[in-house]
This record gives sequence, structure tokens and C-alpha cells, in this order.
Amino acid sequence: MPEISKKGHNMPQSPIRKLVPYAEEATKKGKKVYYLNIGQPDIKTPTIAMNAIKSSSLDILAYSRSEGSEEYRKKIVKYYLHNNIDLTHNDIIVTTGGSEALLFAFGSIMDEGDEIIIPEPFYANYNGFSTSSGINVVPVISKIENNFALPPIEEFEKLITPNTKAILICNPGNPTGYLYSKEEIKKLASIVKEHDLFLIADEVYREFVYDGIEHYSILQESGLEEHAIVVDSVSKRYSMCGARIGYLVSKNRDVIKTALKFAQARLSPPTLAQIASEAALDTPQSYFDDVITEYVKRRNILTSELEKIEGVTVAKPNGAFYCIAELPVKNSDDFARWLLQSFDYNNNTVMVAPAAGFYSTPGVGQNQIRIAYVLNEESLRTAVKILAEALKVYKD
Ligand SMILES: Cc1ncc(COP(=O)(O)O)c(C=O)c1O
Repeated sequence: MPEISKKGHNMPQSPIRKLVPYAEEATKKGKKVYYLNIGQPDIKTPTIAMNAIKSSSLDILAYSRSEGSEEYRKKIVKYYLHNNIDLTHNDIIVTTGGSEALLFAFGSIMDEGDEIIIPEPFYANYNGFSTSSGINVVPVISKIENNFALPPIEEFEKLITPNTKAILICNPGNPTGYLYSKEEIKKLASIVKEHDLFLIADEVYREFVYDGIEHYSILQESGLEEHAIVVDSVSKRYSMCGARIGYLVSKNRDVIKTALKFAQARLSPPTLAQIASEAALDTPQSYFDDVITEYVKRRNILTSELEKIEGVTVAKPNGAFYCIAELPVKNSDDFARWLLQSFDYNNNTVMVAPAAGFYSTPGVGQNQIRIAYVLNEESLRTAVKILAEALKVYKD
């Protein structure tokens, strides 16, 4: 039989999706499953975006330009300007989700065997994208005890080798909800300048920041123009995960020129979804105000209810809509599977994402889970209650 590639063997399963068959099995048995595992918001997509699809008068669903429609990119420029970021449409390539922007960024700046430093825990698919790009993740560990703050700069510097090409941060962070301060961004900026590295910031959750703290983008940092690459997406911002639209942003002309070649190879980002995403840019501020109020309420309920459970530690997120919780279990992978296969509370159970897959250091995060607070208040309270009841009876 012909053999599949080493790369294929090494591709990790997504910790967010790998337990889906068990959840489906539980549902077939008549259990209700509360999904805390995946960042699919239950928030409605702005009407203005949905209406743009409904009223489209296209009679051919044609390819768009590889870098995305010019009209759309010009409107994105206005969005960034509103966020104190000065760009031109030539600094933007529209991609098939932030996922493709990450792949284009990796492909444009790194070769097989190159290294990228990423504070962990990190968005699990960074592991998958690194494997498929043939590059090595070098983790720098941020700890739950410190609420996942950036480790001291010396920790980064210790990890830099001749193969290091970039540092990647997620701001605000998935899975930690950590929001980097302006000072932290400035420190990272000084390291990448000193060691001539790229700084990639995944800012897909930029709009979701709480407690009156302002998001500081690497694109606002002057002197970083040649180093900064931003990954962005409409998926969470407008609850448009299925649109599959994101963008790669950089003022570095070589990065854009190179990423465009990757973009040309895959021809075009989705045409209809660009029309919807362009319309979404007119979403009124009141939509975001309501969404933020809702997420803050959910975050507060989730963290305070989790803290009431004996043996559970939770980091307080300042952004995005995830948190990491440490549980009194040895192996959260086994626990998450057991919840679906063998446990119910009044015929209800929960699905969580085991956190080990959000680390690249073997053995770390084994007793942690990631929770996405994408359910309404009542469901969230029920889900945490189920978790508390499960922990009372679970035996490792
Ligand atoms: C941190 C982060 N980056 C990128 C993505 C990719 O999102 P998409 O491809 O839907 O834009 C996600 C999705 O959950 C994410 O959480």
C-alpha cells in the first residue's frame, strides 16, 4: 500500500474537535450536550451582513482578485484607521479565514527547520500550521499562577537561535484570554528589532477586550513596520465563522509581495463572503457594545462559578471568550472523554477541550481544560453545575 507522508503522521488532531464523535454518541443516547469546547459564538451575525448576501444581484459567482476585492480592502483601511492604525489597501491581503493568513505568513517568512517562538498555551492549530509548514515551535511557558502574563524578556532571549525567524503572539489570547499591555508589546518590539525577527500578532479577537482596557496593536508601534505581521478575521468579530474571511496585514512590502504569490496559487478568497464582510464593516457600534456586555457577564459568571468548585483554579481573562481552568484531575483528556461517554447529570453533560493540545511542551497542561464562554447565561450556569457534579464522582 502506498504510504502517507511523515508530515501527515505528525499532524496533530485538534483538541477542540477530536472528541466530537463521543459527543455525537452521547447525543444519540438521548443526552443533552453543552458545548464549551469550540469558539463558535451563539451571537447573531449582523443583519446588515446577512442582507448583503440576500440582496446580492450577482449572476456569476466569479473569482475575486487574489489579494481580495479592492473596494473591500479600501473599506478595511477605514476600519483600521478608526482603531488608530494607519494603512493602505496595499498592506492587506484578504484570506480564507485567519487560518489561511497564518499559513501565508508562515510560508512567506520561514523555511523547513526554522523556528518560531510562541508563548504557550497557544491556539492549538498553531501546532498544526507549524507541522504543515515544516517549522518548529519553540514554546515559552506562561503560567496560570501569573494569569498567563508574558514571561520575562530574558526567557525569550534564551530561546533565540540562528534558526529563529519569528515570535508569534495571540492578542487577546486564545485560550488564555490574556491581553498584552502596551509595555509588553514594546518589550517584544525591542527583542524583534534587536535580533532581526518578525513579530506576528494574531489579533482576531481585537474587538473583545474588557474592563475598560484598550487593545494595543503591534501595527501601532512605530519603528516596527518591517517586522510586524498581523493576522485578522471576521469570524468572531461579526460572528461570521462560516464566511471564511480573514486578512494578513503588513507594511513590509516583501512580506506582502511574497504572501501574494501564495494567494495567487489558491486563486481567490470567497467572493460572496467578501460582499457580506464588506457590509459587516458598517455594523453599528451598538452591536459591539451589546456583545461586549454579554461576554463580560458570561465571563464573570463562568469564572466566579468555577472558583466555587473545590480544587479548581481559573485564570481571569481580560479579552477573547475563553479561559483555562485547572481541575483536580490527573488527565483532562480522559476526564473530557469520560464526561461524554460515562457521565450525565439529569441526562445532561458537557464537552470541554482538554488543554494539553494547547501546549507544545509534552506533559504540560494535563490537568487543564479550555472553556469557551459562547453559551447564554442559563446554559453556562447549567454547564458549570454539571462540571461540578462530575468532579464529585470522577475517579482518575
Ligand atoms: C486565535 C485564533 N486565530 C485564528 C483563528 C482562525 O479563525 P478563522 O480561520 O475562522 O478566521 C482562530 C479560530 O478560532 C483563533 O482562535
